[in-house]
Parts: sequence; structure tokens; C-alpha cells
Amino acid sequence: MKDLQWWQKTVVYQVYPKSFLDTTGSGQGDIPGITRKLDYLKTLGVGAIWLTPVYSSPMVDNGYDIADYTAIDPSYGTMADMEELIAAAKKRDIRIVMDLVYNHTSDKHAWFIESKSSRDNSKADWYIWRDAKPDGSAPTNWRSIFGGSAWTWCEERQQYYLHTFAAAQPDLNWENPAVRQALYAAANFWLDKGVGGFRIDAIVYIKKPAVFADGEPDSSDGMVNVHSMIANTPGILDFLQEFRREVFDGHDIFTVAEANGVGPEELKDWVGEQGAFDMLFEFSHVNLEFPDGEIWCRGTGWKPELIPELKRSLTASQLATAENGWYPVFFENHDQLRCVRHFFPDDADPQVTAKAIATLLFTLRGTPFIYEGQELGMDNVAWGSIADYDDISSQGQYELALAEGRSESDALRLVHRYSRDNARTPMQWTRGRQAGFTEGQPWLPVHEDYARCCVESEAEDEDSVLSFYRRISRLRREGAAAQVLQQGSYEEVLTEREDVYAFRRRWGGQEVLTVVNFTGKETVYAAELPEEARVIIETQPDSKRGKLRPYEAVCYLGRTARKEGQGQ
Ligand code: GLC
Repeated sequence: MKDLQWWQKTVVYQVYPKSFLDTTGSGQGDIPGITRKLDYLKTLGVGAIWLTPVYSSPMVDNGYDIADYTAIDPSYGTMADMEELIAAAKKRDIRIVMDLVYNHTSDKHAWFIESKSSRDNSKADWYIWRDAKPDGSAPTNWRSIFGGSAWTWCEERQQYYLHTFAAAQPDLNWENPAVRQALYAAANFWLDKGVGGFRIDAIVYIKKPAVFADGEPDSSDGMVNVHSMIANTPGILDFLQEFRREVFDGHDIFTVAEANGVGPEELKDWVGEQGAFDMLFEFSHVNLEFPDGEIWCRGTGWKPELIPELKRSLTASQLATAENGWYPVFFENHDQLRCVRHFFPDDADPQVTAKAIATLLFTLRGTPFIYEGQELGMDNVAWGSIADYDDISSQGQYELALAEGRSESDALRLVHRYSRDNARTPMQWTRGRQAGFTEGQPWLPVHEDYARCCVESEAEDEDSVLSFYRRISRLRREGAAAQVLQQGSYEEVLTEREDVYAFRRRWGGQEVLTVVNFTGKETVYAAELPEEARVIIETQPDSKRGKLRPYEAVCYLGRTARKEGQGQ
């Protein structure tokens, strides 16, 4: 195996800037707020920060609707603030990773304003325009990911434009080479500023099918989820290879692309030596509750039968990147519910389950991605009415649930579970006013549990989730287990168990065994421990060999009994 690169050895921390730290009293986080917390991030071993979009934006989708790829939104600060963040981070050996939202722009982007102005302007085919059907209706019955038709009528052009997401997020036409060049130029602008990599948004949608046709309706609204009609259209990899050549190649950066719908079996075409990216977020392990597309009213909720599926899915992606490519280990992001609820029953104690997930995050093979607040065990919220929710997809999914005959309280219950606002409540820094997030009124309410679950309280407590994250991150970085955890091979054990997930990592004659109980019941197990095994981390004190308490996780380090597997 080649030496690992810096981004394979480090920890990435995802910052959702609007919710991180407000330094102006506006109620919204900003870039100077991130700079101020770099030393905090260093205590978690962070070497890169994935910054969700801070570009100029009307904020219909909180910055994923970009009006200018090379300008900073004034609500976040200035370009000078951004340069200061990049420099201050670099001093601490932390690289800033920008989010490239290249499937679509905002409808307020100058490119779209020009494109929609007529059918013969210089950017007329920079977006995806189609005529109405003879009866005047939308060109196809595709439903956007946020709900409602994926087509919006434009008076000026007397045509519809396509939007995979909100109407305010028109899809770019990647078939046009001028569009691609403009996008590459924007990414190169950020490379020149010294960023350490890119997270590439919603990339599976950039290539559209040659023929646009109606799909079989998947709901009583007569529409079909656009995802199933356009995701991963053949030919997409040609665009992505060009993207790599024109932007990424030759830079000491990493790229990680969001590829919902690409399964572990396809990873080899997307990542590694020949692939377009260094890593790919595939979503099989976080989408288990949605066997047929992310329609919230079809979500099954968490149930014990999903534990074996979770194990299978994690193992599949570990194996898919064993020889080629690299895996970004993640359990949360700004679109997901909080992991302490995601993978456990509602009555499980979030402080305990948070540590179980942390154990997986740091001992699976790949680069751990922490989402802000995950390191505190931050929990979901459940607000009283749909009007309390900001997330645009919550609104759309709520409407769809009602259209499918759900009651309002049922639809709200689904929003409680799946709303992206669960991940977007303000970061909990202190026990003080508004959890130390803002001097003003926060744009989303602070979680009521903040006094217990905040950096200030948890830093004082050796037993807290935060202290656990700091310890386990150190374990992966330095000391006897570091090489095994960074480079070691992966082998699942106890595969037949429906309650316990266990795997071995092996490297240079050393072995780490991780065992996690996913249920609220005590249990016993019979995995062979490494020779001279010792506990290197445990989620609850005084763990017992061969036994696990509810949601307990333990890691043992020792010598490998048998010589086998990759990397020996
Ligand atoms: C990605 C982002 C999500 C955003 C969407 C549209 O899925 O993670 O937050 O709403 O793309 O850009």
C-alpha cells in the first residue's frame, strides 16, 4: 500500500456556518465565528473543515442556491474574512474545504437572469429549457426532490425550466462546454485562495437523459420522483473525468462527492486511481428507512430489523473501498437527523448512543467526518407546528404526506423525525443565554437540552460525549492503535448476529476488535479477542469481555493471532 495522504489520516469537521457561531448579534452564524473556534476544533484532531456554502445567495435553501460562486454572502462576512479563516486555519494545520454546488444555481444568478430573458441570448442554453406539452402542462411528470413539479413556467421565454430541487434552483446544462468551463473556473478561483479540497454537491444529477419522458407515477399526485428519472445517467463519468482533469489533478487537495443513489458496488467507478473523486458519500447506511426513494411518508422509522441491514451496508462500503479508493465515514450531515436517534429506538439515552456511533466513526476504515454538534451528542427537535420549520424540504414533504392522506399530526410526526432542521439548530457552546451561539435572536431555536449538552458542560466532564470524541480521535492519531485504525484491513465478525456489530482491523501484526451492541438489551458474544488484548476505549466504564450492556461499544487492541488479510 502507498503511504496515506494527509486527508486519509485526518478528521474532517463539517461546519454549517449559519448555525455555528454568531459574532455580530444577527442571530446567524458567520465566518469570523468559525475562525474564533479553530482552537476548539483542534482539540478534536480536526485537519479539515468542510464548509457548507457561504457564497452569495438568496438563502432559499440556506446557501445551496448560489447567486455568485466567487463572492461571499454579506450575512457571513466578507472575502477578507474568508481569507483570514483560510490563513488562520492553515496556521493550525487545518485546511478549508469548499462546497461546490454545480448541479444548479440560484434563479437570481446573473447566468439564469440572462438565460431566462429570451430564447436567443448568449446564455440561452445554459439551463434546461423545454416547451410545454400541447395542453400547456409541464414537459414531464417529474416531482422535484423538495416536492411539487420539477418544472417551473417562465413567462419571458414561454417555456419551462427544470429544477431537481426548489424552483429557485434551476439546473445547469452540463452538455454546454461553456457552462462546464465557467464552473471549473470558479473552482480554480478557490484553489488559488488556498483551499484544501472540495465537497461536491448533488453530483449524480448533472447528466440528464437524452430523451425526457413521463415516468410511472409513484404517488397519488401522479408524479414520479425526479431522482429515479435522472440520477446517474450514463455518460456522467465523462463529465466528471473532465472536471478532475481541469480542476483537481495536480493539487494537494481532496475531493468528496455527494452521490445519493450510487451504491457500494459502483464505488470503484467513481473513486480511486482511475475514479473522478477521492471519496464519495454514498448513502446506503443512512437511507435504510427509505427502501423506495426518500419520500418521508414512506419512511419506516427505526426498527430492530434494520440493524442487520446497517451492518451489511457498512461492510459493503468498507469492502468496496478496501483495494481502491477511500471511504468517508459519516453518520450525520446537515441533511440528516441526529445519529443518536437515527440508528436507535426513541427511548435510548443519547449520551450513550452518541458514543457508540463515535466508536464506529473512528474505528471503521476511512476518514471520519464529524458534523457540528455530533461530538456533543446533540439531539433532534420536535416543534409544535410545520410553520416553525425553516427547512424547505420539510415543507414539501409535509404537503406530500397530506396529499397521501396522512393527518396533520401524522405528517408533523414525520417532520419531527426527518426534518433537516434537526441538524441545523444552533451549536451549543455554553450554559449561558442562547447556548452562547448569539447575542441576538437565533434564526432557529436552540435545543432545550443545551445546558447539559454543550461544550462548556461537556468539557468539564471526563465522561461526556465530547471527552469521548477527544479521546477516540487521539487514539486514531497517535499511539499504539493509530496505524491499525488508519491503515488496517477490515473484516466483519459475528456476521450472523442481529444485535451486535463487530469487526477487526489488522495491520503489521496488530489488531483492533470493535464490538457494538445496537440494542437496549444486555447480551453476550463470542468473538475471538486479539492476543494479549487490552481495552483501548469503552463507552461505559468497566466493560466485561464477552458481554455488552445496552448500546455499549468496546475496542480491544492486541496482537493478531493469525497472519492473514490485507496489509500484514
Ligand atoms: C444537497 C445538499 C442539500 C441541498 C441539496 C440541493 O443534497 O446537501 O442540503 O439542499 O443538495 O443543493
